[in-house]
Amino acid sequence: MSNPSEADLIHMFKGIPFTTRSSPELLKSLHTIHAREDDVLLVSYPKSGTHWLAGVITKLYNTQVTLTSPIEFGDISKLEELNKVSSKRIIPTHLDYNMLPPNFKNKKCKMIYISRNPKDTAVSMYHYYRDNPNLPTIDTWTAFFDLFLKGDVVCGSWFDHFLSWEEHENDKNILFLFYEDMKKDLPKIVKEISVFLALNVSDNDIQDICKKSSFSEMKSDTEKENSDPNHTVCALTSNRKLIFRKGAVGDWKNHFTPKQNRRFEEIFNEKMKFSKM
Ligand code: A3P
Repeated sequence: MSNPSEADLIHMFKGIPFTTRSSPELLKSLHTIHAREDDVLLVSYPKSGTHWLAGVITKLYNTQVTLTSPIEFGDISKLEELNKVSSKRIIPTHLDYNMLPPNFKNKKCKMIYISRNPKDTAVSMYHYYRDNPNLPTIDTWTAFFDLFLKGDVVCGSWFDHFLSWEEHENDKNILFLFYEDMKKDLPKIVKEISVFLALNVSDNDIQDICKKSSFSEMKSDTEKENSDPNHTVCALTSNRKLIFRKGAVGDWKNHFTPKQNRRFEEIFNEKMKFSKM
């Protein structure tokens, strides 16, 4: 059987490329989603550490919580599926702020946005594209680099995504986190998350959560996530080798040529000129 074509895998919605696993009907109906005041949204551009953060957050609760697949993933039955979750919901999403269903904003649901150096994000996404049959074929890093800068990848431009959320960084219900800070001092960030979520967690528990959330522990921990990709945080694969690849800061240095780095910096400086990043 021949490889699926790009059109089989990707479609555009409001100018943003989505995989065909996010059905147009679902995307069009997202505004009807029923939000609950105690929902916690876990927001990211792909490959920014979503699984890591999800692992930490679910461990922080000592009551029953359900980590769903991303809101935008699936077909129209997703709306009903989310309604049926009886426990507190931790809901991942890669949507930019403007596309986030207004009900979550109106109900002032808590949202945690995790971001990562876009150079490392690009490299992580390149490997993910390369090894994931549910995404279009990418021949070379150079080809992917161009697509990433143009925003011609799933979830669109990293810059647009980040900027749409950064505008809301002072909203009380949104916590901004950086992958690099989690690498530097995970206990500090876990504490910050627990305060934001109003959870009473002891220092011992925080140490324990950090141990269980290390890259190696999470990589080898195959039990917890449903092996059906439709129900995973990633929603495009349940292959842990694709999700837990290297877990490092600065891998971009092994991929970017000096010329690519200069071009990236130029575009970064231009697009982010009003950003605090
Ligand atoms: P790399 O491809 O650079 O290794 P997401 O969950 O948003 O898809 O992000 C995946 C990236 O987060 C991958 O980056 C993955 O290795 C990294 N990651 C996942 N769990 C991690 C952990 N416990 N510690 C550090 N990095 C982690």
